[in-house]
Amino acid sequence: MATDTLPHAAGIIGAAVPRIDGSLKTSGTARYAVDHNFPGLVHGVAVQATIGKGRIRSLDTSAAEKMPGVLLVLHHGKIDNVYRFYPHEADGTISEARPPFADENIYYWGQFVAAVVAETLEQAKAAANAIKAEYDIEKPDVNPDLSDFTGPKPESWLRGDPDKALASAPVTVDETYITPVETHNPMEMHGTVAVWDGDNVTLYECTQGVVNHRVVMSEVLGVPRENVRVISRFIGSGFGGKLFPWTQSSIAASAARTLNRPVKISVDRRMMFTSTGHRPRTQQRIRLGATEDGKLTAIRHDFFTETSQLDDFVEHCGEQTPFLYSCPNLVVTTGMVRRNVGAPAPMRGPGAVPGLFALESAVDELAIKLKMDPVEFRLKNDAERDEGKNLPFSSRHLKECYTTGAEKIGWKNRTPEPGSMRRNGKIYGWGVGGASWSAARIPCTASVELCPNGRICVRCATQDIGTGTYTIFAQVVHAATGVPLDRIDVFLGDSSLPEGPTSGGSMATSAVLPATTTAVNSAVTRLLHIAAMIPNSPFHGMKPESLAFANGRVMQKEEEPKVVGVSLSSSSQLAANGVPFEEVLKLANLSGISAMGKTAPSFEDPKAKQYSLHSYGCHFAEVEWDPEIVRLRVSRIFSVFDAGRIINKKAGANQILGAAVMGVGMALFEDTVHDSRTGQPINNNFADYIVPTCADLPELDVTFLDYPDYIVNEYGARGIGEIGMAGVAPAIASAVYHATGVRVRTLPIRIEDLLKSNIREA
Ligand code: MOS
Repeated sequence: MATDTLPHAAGIIGAAVPRIDGSLKTSGTARYAVDHNFPGLVHGVAVQATIGKGRIRSLDTSAAEKMPGVLLVLHHGKIDNVYRFYPHEADGTISEARPPFADENIYYWGQFVAAVVAETLEQAKAAANAIKAEYDIEKPDVNPDLSDFTGPKPESWLRGDPDKALASAPVTVDETYITPVETHNPMEMHGTVAVWDGDNVTLYECTQGVVNHRVVMSEVLGVPRENVRVISRFIGSGFGGKLFPWTQSSIAASAARTLNRPVKISVDRRMMFTSTGHRPRTQQRIRLGATEDGKLTAIRHDFFTETSQLDDFVEHCGEQTPFLYSCPNLVVTTGMVRRNVGAPAPMRGPGAVPGLFALESAVDELAIKLKMDPVEFRLKNDAERDEGKNLPFSSRHLKECYTTGAEKIGWKNRTPEPGSMRRNGKIYGWGVGGASWSAARIPCTASVELCPNGRICVRCATQDIGTGTYTIFAQVVHAATGVPLDRIDVFLGDSSLPEGPTSGGSMATSAVLPATTTAVNSAVTRLLHIAAMIPNSPFHGMKPESLAFANGRVMQKEEEPKVVGVSLSSSSQLAANGVPFEEVLKLANLSGISAMGKTAPSFEDPKAKQYSLHSYGCHFAEVEWDPEIVRLRVSRIFSVFDAGRIINKKAGANQILGAAVMGVGMALFEDTVHDSRTGQPINNNFADYIVPTCADLPELDVTFLDYPDYIVNEYGARGIGEIGMAGVAPAIASAVYHATGVRVRTLPIRIEDLLKSNIREA
């Protein structure tokens, strides 16, 4: 690690700090949920329904129950004390509300109908395969066309008279855009290890929210919250699929209680296509109206999103529509369409990502009709204030994102005619897509402890899903104390720690910063008071306010911290003067000094409520098109983001890079296909469900504008986990049009679409 080049103390905020947990992961010592093993641990395997709709007529478990090692077979009518969780306002969310094996109805292919627990995984698998289910089969509804929907379509964000404005607009676009079911494919699959000790249960989970998981599982298991502990120290990402508990957690906990033995259940990759969420299919009709000179006059965004039979999940595709552009007449309508599929879940940039595919593609089409440059169109129609909420923006530099990205790719040399740009015997095309995601400061509590061994511990019941949250805490503590990163211990991923935020909505960083800062500053203040108070201290009798804390040492304020060198391992300067804090603790006979800090949420902050809080950005994509062999590649993506102040440039850039990669997957590959006869997702594996690999990836370039947004917190930091995925697919689809002359409105873009191109040679 090249940490020796890191800036010291306060300068570390904003630096490209390598993840402090990186070596644990690369050396294989980080333990993920199902890496936990205990004496007597046994294995559970779920049995999935092989029909998409109907009822279990009979379930023959007799053979399975007699098989070697089998300890327990669970199914409808035979599962102990698993209760329904009813969501409360702001106090807990579950993914699939129906408890496991609640009745004999089958709502989707892959629904868990039974589970076997056995001494070994192999025994459990063999017994699971021996369970014979017979069904009364009905035809499942997995119709990908969502327009048969006749239910209510609530209107939101209505302003002006969009229909009248559309009717009188000289230039209009009216198109429908479709995004498919996309399945979360984090590297680490879902899994639970449940361990009971009397009335207490510990769940080793992969969850984006240990606190939420505890709240939900306390009610599912019918035990007090204080009896439930959820541990999730390392997570192989989640993309939203791990925000809220899934059924395997309830099954593992129930079985472990019944057997009084630790139970491990892993969800395999195939099951992840039915049983742990997906981004639902969307079908969005966008109507835009503009004046001849390119001023938007009307936006109508009418969309349908698919959900399961029992869960009311809406992919809010219209969330960015009311404020991205200035436009006097606008409406968004939402239709939730039920299908025989598993429960959907949030997936990186829920709502915004499919929503902006539609809106930004339509804007490109409108600009083309207007014979206007699509960047110029966006600059001309940029919003000065949030016209949806009628509030000023806390900080918005979207125009600068566009001008910066245009500069990077060399946009001024773009010729608009499809197929008109050539290089090295290939055609290339350029397209742009805008991005936005909301910002907020959610509640957080953190504690900081100055320990007698010269280390500082920081604790918070949030978790690091791979994004760099551990490192952010260490940066804040280092910035306030000068204590080297390798002497800062960050404890996360345990619900018994001070209550912290879910890693969701791109809000963890903005939530943890104020709480951690308050905690570390209070601990230091207490240290200085103690240093001045105790009789055997060299600072005895001095005013605490006259003391300072630098490089981990207490000194008098007028004394400049003297530096004798730099610690190669830890970015830290080696101080020569002052008294190390651990010496002060020893003199005072203290086992440590700790302090708590809290983050007050922005939704209760009268000042923050006066602003529209969002991050912004854009992607400029280049595709290379080889018409002779119908070969398309995304060759370059330039991403420019206005996401407030970036706390860690390395982890931050990683977020945008990873999101751009997912965006390539969305544009070109990903599509969960359900068989219309059975309701089975037929490409439920990595051979048939294509995610981008290194060989598919373009050159990626990320720029942060780095304007602090002090309405969100004192660091000016917003969040960047999700926004990077927005705007990629429309940028690529527009680049594809620019290269091939083919407009693809149904993702993913396929070779079959490109065969329609009239451009036959480069
Ligand atoms: Mo994000 S979809 O809230 O993990």
